[in-house]
Amino acid sequence: MLPRFTDGARTGSGAMTPPIDKILEGDCVERMKALPAESVDMIFADPPYFLQLEDELLRPNNSRVDGVSDAWDQFEGFAAYDAFTREWLGAAQRLLKPTGTLWVIGSYHNIFRVGTALQDLGFWILNDVIWRKTNPMPNFRGRRFTNAHETLIWCTKGRDAKGYRFNYDAMKSLNDDLQMRSDWLIPLCTGTERLKKDGKKAHATQKPEALLHRAILAATDTGDVVLDPFFGSGTTGAVAKRLGRHWIGIERQEDYITLAQERLRTVQVASEEALEVTPSKRSQPRIPFGLVVERGLLSPGDQLYDARRRYAAKVRADGSLVADGVTGSIHKVGAHLQGAPACNGWTFWHFDVEGGDLKPIALLRERMRQEIH
Ligand SMILES: C[S@@+](CC[C@H](N)C(=O)[O-])C[C@H]1O[C@@H](n2cnc3c(N)ncnc32)[C@H](O)[C@@H]1O
Repeated sequence: MLPRFTDGARTGSGAMTPPIDKILEGDCVERMKALPAESVDMIFADPPYFLQLEDELLRPNNSRVDGVSDAWDQFEGFAAYDAFTREWLGAAQRLLKPTGTLWVIGSYHNIFRVGTALQDLGFWILNDVIWRKTNPMPNFRGRRFTNAHETLIWCTKGRDAKGYRFNYDAMKSLNDDLQMRSDWLIPLCTGTERLKKDGKKAHATQKPEALLHRAILAATDTGDVVLDPFFGSGTTGAVAKRLGRHWIGIERQEDYITLAQERLRTVQVASEEALEVTPSKRSQPRIPFGLVVERGLLSPGDQLYDARRRYAAKVRADGSLVADGVTGSIHKVGAHLQGAPACNGWTFWHFDVEGGDLKPIALLRERMRQEIH
């Protein structure tokens, strides 16, 4: 069957681009099928959990606990839920660029089913991330452990999908210069961040902006397109906009669309300077040492030394070094002289500057990088 919508515009080169910074109303499978293939950099999906709540849950003081009993969370059974999951995941896979990634969040009710479907469809899991809630809802009946986390699965569209974005250094910087781990301690969305209507939660499952901040900052660049097929109150759009990313929301319920539109209108985009993140070393252009020689920053015959002038080597015209009867790359010769298994030649070798000081050759690489950019 042909899709009811065909969303997007044609660029000068004839390629289709999706409609950006908009909420598309309707069923996410239908709407995603109508968007151009391979046009989205990241998808964040917070699908129905299929909680299957039967009885009303009461606190010890008999007040009612807000569970998710909304119509959008109802399915006939696991078979129907699984069929729906495979449908939307298939549509999402088609939309992702080859370098794009998908995040799905869920609880024990659904995340294992989603995980199976993902792997069956050929998605390749990069991480499962535990969102540990600092302020979870207590277990009122005292018959189970407090359910204090949700799981996010982060994946590429296939095993061979290369070149996906992971802003490793930005994540490290966000974590006080320690590698970011896969367990994230983040509070539930409460206080002024929680959208209210007539004094009640406007959406039962509004996610904290901090969670989206981390996912979007980790996996996208400014100007990228982030899509959320289960937009709800628009958390993904709000954070994407603030971080200078484009966003597309899909939502079936009109009242949530109005809520999200209101929310997005007030979000300010951060300044360009504030949005620059610590660049990943791997994303910087690779500079072979030979280029430094070709460019004339060092000449054939120049001497290099280690920081304490214990070792010396001579630069050759092809960008190799010679010392102690051994020739090879800056790394190989450095390792050989020290009797070490490996050596980072860029930080090991130094060149003479006026006044008898030594500077690491990594400075020349930095100069080359700036010239190239
Ligand atoms: C778990 S909530 C997402 C909440 C959202 N992450 C937030 O922070 O507000 C799921 C949302 O998906 C919507 N939804 C459910 N099934 C849908 C479908 N087939 N197509 C589009 N939206 C759907 C629901 O109306 C609900 O708002």
